[in-house]
Amino acid sequence: MKKDQWVMGVESSCDETAVAIIKNGREIAANVVASQIESHKRFGGVVPEIASRHHVEQITIVLEEAMNQAGLDFSDLDAIAVTEGPGLVGALLIGVNAAKALAFAHGLPLVPVHHIAGHIYANRLVAEMKFPLIALVVSGGHTELVYMKEHGHFEVIGETRDDAAGEAYDKVARTLNLTYPGGPQIDRLAQEGKATIDLPRAWLEEDSYDFSFSGLKSAVINTVHNAEQRGETIIPEDLAASFQASVVEVLVKKAERAVAEYGVKQILLAGGVAANKGLRAALSEAFANKEDIELVIPPLSFCTDNAAMIAAAGSVMFEKGKRAELTLNANPGLEIEKYND
Ligand code: KG4
Ligand code: ZN
Repeated sequence: MKKDQWVMGVESSCDETAVAIIKNGREIAANVVASQIESHKRFGGVVPEIASRHHVEQITIVLEEAMNQAGLDFSDLDAIAVTEGPGLVGALLIGVNAAKALAFAHGLPLVPVHHIAGHIYANRLVAEMKFPLIALVVSGGHTELVYMKEHGHFEVIGETRDDAAGEAYDKVARTLNLTYPGGPQIDRLAQEGKATIDLPRAWLEEDSYDFSFSGLKSAVINTVHNAEQRGETIIPEDLAASFQASVVEVLVKKAERAVAEYGVKQILLAGGVAANKGLRAALSEAFANKEDIELVIPPLSFCTDNAAMIAAAGSVMFEKGKRAELTLNANPGLEIEKYND
């Protein structure tokens, strides 16, 4: 009988310090996330210096809790997987150094993981991946359509030319005086409003899978300012619903077109904005009648940053033989195609 495989994942690329342990690539034995959102809220966004300090304070506590949750000893582990990038350099360094120290101290292989690969592999915690597939990645820093012909191979077929979807959500939320992170709040408001305000959709060239959200963001800001100047009031719920309708329509239409053109078996949703209710509902509706295409959407806790997704990707990469030396450094601008074998 094949021995069970246990992989630890470590994530610290932005404002969550997280450690998880998973069994055989898909079963969660421990999943601990320490969020710093409260500390960054009053600044309206993530402050890199503060993020690094919190990671330093939290990493050993989170690590210990994960080991206790799993009830394992380090000698039971097969590998340590860690987010090497992209992300904030000072934040990434904490996770990378913790993972290197553990790998060295316990003689374990070190597996480097691309943060977005992690977001994509969050889907493997709920369904086995079937290739070829397309992942719609929508996070705070990325918006892209990724084609995968096999495990560990990522091809970006379209990406944002300016703001990421999550970034646009957070900026629009600021205009409405909502606290950081604004995405979940806009989502909540949108459920209560009607998409009555006409806002642009950036389709770009007819055959392009790229995205652009800065024009939409400016249109929302202009709508708010113009109303203020005229002394009119805008119903925030309706503005949120109108903004969300524009974002979701473009994301879903481009994903549908990519799925048809590339003839894939699965479409995966990934990244923090994958927690968006409007997006989840629209994608489910779009693919409801397409029986030969399986839509996978991770549960909310696997959409925003966590380490289970890093362990899930790390487990596959470990099997494929991907390793990092103990000289591994944080790689804040790491591109996913550079991470391919
Ligand atoms: O993937 P993530 O946790 O961090 C990055 O890797 O960038 O994504 C964070 C982003 C933030 O911009 C946040 O506002 C957005 O995801 N977000 C949402 C929702 N929940 C989180 N955006 C829209 N609707 C949501 N429900
Ligand atoms: Zn993320």
